[in-house]
Amino acid sequence: MTMKIALYGTGYVGLVTGACLAEVGNEVTCIDVDVDRIAGLKLGRMPFHEPGLAELVVRNQAAGKLDFTTHAASALAPATVIFIAVGTPPAADGSADLSQVLAVARSIGKYLTHRAVVVIKSTVPVGTADRVQVEIARAITARGAMVLFDVVANPEFLKEGEAVEDCLRPERILLGSQSRRAISVLRALYTPFNRNHERVLEMDTRSAELTKYAGNAMLATKISLMNEMANIAERVGADIEQVRRGIGADPRIGHHFIYAGAGYGGSCFPKDVQALARAALAQGYEPRILAAVEAVNSAQKNKLFELVARHFHGRLAGRTVALWGLSFKPDTDDMREAPSLALMQSLWDEGACVRAYDPQAGSQARECCGERADLVICESPYQALDGADVLVVVTEWKLFRSPDFARIRLALKEPAIFDGRNLYEPAEVEAAGLAYYGIGRGR
Ligand code: UGA
Repeated sequence: MTMKIALYGTGYVGLVTGACLAEVGNEVTCIDVDVDRIAGLKLGRMPFHEPGLAELVVRNQAAGKLDFTTHAASALAPATVIFIAVGTPPAADGSADLSQVLAVARSIGKYLTHRAVVVIKSTVPVGTADRVQVEIARAITARGAMVLFDVVANPEFLKEGEAVEDCLRPERILLGSQSRRAISVLRALYTPFNRNHERVLEMDTRSAELTKYAGNAMLATKISLMNEMANIAERVGADIEQVRRGIGADPRIGHHFIYAGAGYGGSCFPKDVQALARAALAQGYEPRILAAVEAVNSAQKNKLFELVARHFHGRLAGRTVALWGLSFKPDTDDMREAPSLALMQSLWDEGACVRAYDPQAGSQARECCGERADLVICESPYQALDGADVLVVVTEWKLFRSPDFARIRLALKEPAIFDGRNLYEPAEVEAAGLAYYGIGRGR
């Protein structure tokens, strides 16, 4: 069944969701307050790099199924389903800043003229759907109107770099609402994504909201526990990569999300773990595991710097360090909370220079760090090695997986690789005449 949809927010979640809903036949209008972003999208210009998204946006826009506007009233006029997919960035105290979500609720209350289902896609603290309900109702009453609406908590589970695939083929679709009507509207909307087996999980609103945080907290915990294991492994002379394969073979643990590395980054884990911890504290519960997950991660983001500093006996001034990978993970240009930022800052603080290459995040990095003499963004992986003392691999982009070690050795002044993602076999690197440093590998 084709539906008319209005969707607030054209970030990762909003734009991907809007494009995928249009792809399966709905008429979607995306709303954003950012005039330049909307103008760019109308011309097919993507605000960020996400594989497969540009094609989807351009195709559906050309087919008249996807549109972009800054005018909420005109987008809401025909809509029977309204998505909220705006940002919930961390406030100064680590809790989720809901100002954008609540502003959207007021906008809906101001312009809604007919019955609609309001769907919260943004990651929001437990209880937000209730606040949105109140906020919309208040704005409707303020203009002396009477309009019925339902609110559904429907969190997203998109991974950057795979967001289009995750959206078109979801593992689960959470519908958190007490309203039978709203659930049946959304079940109909999601029918094209609910093929072969039942993916819809109906639950109460608060459980749906907490499920999102619980999932990210569980994944972040796996990573921090593995990073802790890596720190133990290197002290007791074990190799975390062999340990990883050993424990991953237990299906109760599984092979996913047990890769030790330079710490987790991105717009989700750091912010969601903190926001959940703040929410728990606000209810008088001290979240001990979440606090440890965060503490281990922030220490782990220093790990690569510590290895480099130890290699140079603390004397980094005047050194040049080549970095492969800047984004917080491959297949994205997202630099938010990226481990590369912490590493570069520490290197600069010690007087070292950075030559960096990333397949997508070069210009984002320049934006984050500003123009500075001690940062050169290079056009290729090997160009980054020119004049560099050592190489640090920070992000596991595919093209870094099988490098020419002989070429690296010749290019570097002091041949050493710091493998922040355990991509290489230490013996192979050492056989090529390079010193090898990994995470939790005793070298
Ligand atoms: C994460 C979740 O995986 C998604 O399910 C969720 O929908 C999303 O957050 C969200 O809340 O919107 P994302 O932030 O895109 O997705 O990235 P991940 O692939 O989860 O990676 C997060 C970080 O963990 C990266 O820095 C990555 O390098 C690190 N990581 C991941 C590890 O260090 N080790 C691992 O084994 C896996």
